[in-house]
Amino acid sequence: MIKMKKLTLGYKKEKILNDIDLKVKKGEFIGIIGTSGAGKSTLLMSVTGGIKVFDGKFEVLDYDLNNIKKKNLIKLREQIGVIFQGYNLVDRLSVLDNVVSGMLKDIPLSRAILKLYKDKEIKKAKEYMDIVDITKHSLKRCDELSGGQRQRVAIARALAAEPKIILADEPVSALDPKSAKKVMGILKKVNEVYGVTVIINLHHLEYAKEYCDRIIGVNNGSVVFDDNSDQLTDKLVEKIYTVNN
Ligand SMILES: Nc1ncnc2c1ncn2[C@@H]1O[C@H](COP(=O)(O)OP(=O)(O)OP(=O)(O)O)[C@@H](O)[C@H]1O
Ligand SMILES: [Mg+2]
Repeated sequence: MIKMKKLTLGYKKEKILNDIDLKVKKGEFIGIIGTSGAGKSTLLMSVTGGIKVFDGKFEVLDYDLNNIKKKNLIKLREQIGVIFQGYNLVDRLSVLDNVVSGMLKDIPLSRAILKLYKDKEIKKAKEYMDIVDITKHSLKRCDELSGGQRQRVAIARALAAEPKIILADEPVSALDPKSAKKVMGILKKVNEVYGVTVIINLHHLEYAKEYCDRIIGVNNGSVVFDDNSDQLTDKLVEKIYTVNN
């Protein structure tokens, strides 16, 4: 699904990530950890083709990101769901409307504005609301929900676009431990039920260890750990979180 070979990534003239070698297979559940500023968000968002490639080879879903045409970039992004710490929902709309909006590429704008959804669209939305356990709030406005509930709506909306990859940038950082665990559990379930590849940036090491099969540790622009979570010893954790400056 994702191939990075000797990859250097960054912004304008500044190189942030150096010499990155990574391969991600279909259905993996990966956590990226590291200190603030290490390059986790840069690494994660590079998968959507939004980060400058300075050097190396970079393929995502068989698209060559070294020289991808705009048309293909749009096609690539349609297959990637992105979830942020800040939910990015339309607050004044209902849970259902937000979830259906994830299918917008299949629904003409005229119908979407009038909220004229077809039965099969409602049925699909219900399936995704069920999996994130938010169906009982489907007609509530999103600004009436708690942070954890909002993040679950964001996951359902991402699913509605039937993505091959879900990228989540610190999806649980703003949540209390109980809500955070519920959201992590739902991401895991989504990964298992739909086989969608999930990559999550995490501030909490415990969540990475508990939920992720594979952990990628980033330190100062380099990948310093990439293995099964059970291989992560205290010594390696120290290596990931050491700040040299
Ligand atoms: N849009 C940008 N333009 C230029 N430099 C940027 C941009 N975004 C991030 N950077 C720089 O890239 C480096 C890595 O940032 P990044 O956001 O990837 O780190 P992070 O590991 O996600 O940190 P955090 O845990 O705080 O979210 C930092 O030095 C940052 O200043
Ligand atoms: Mg970040």
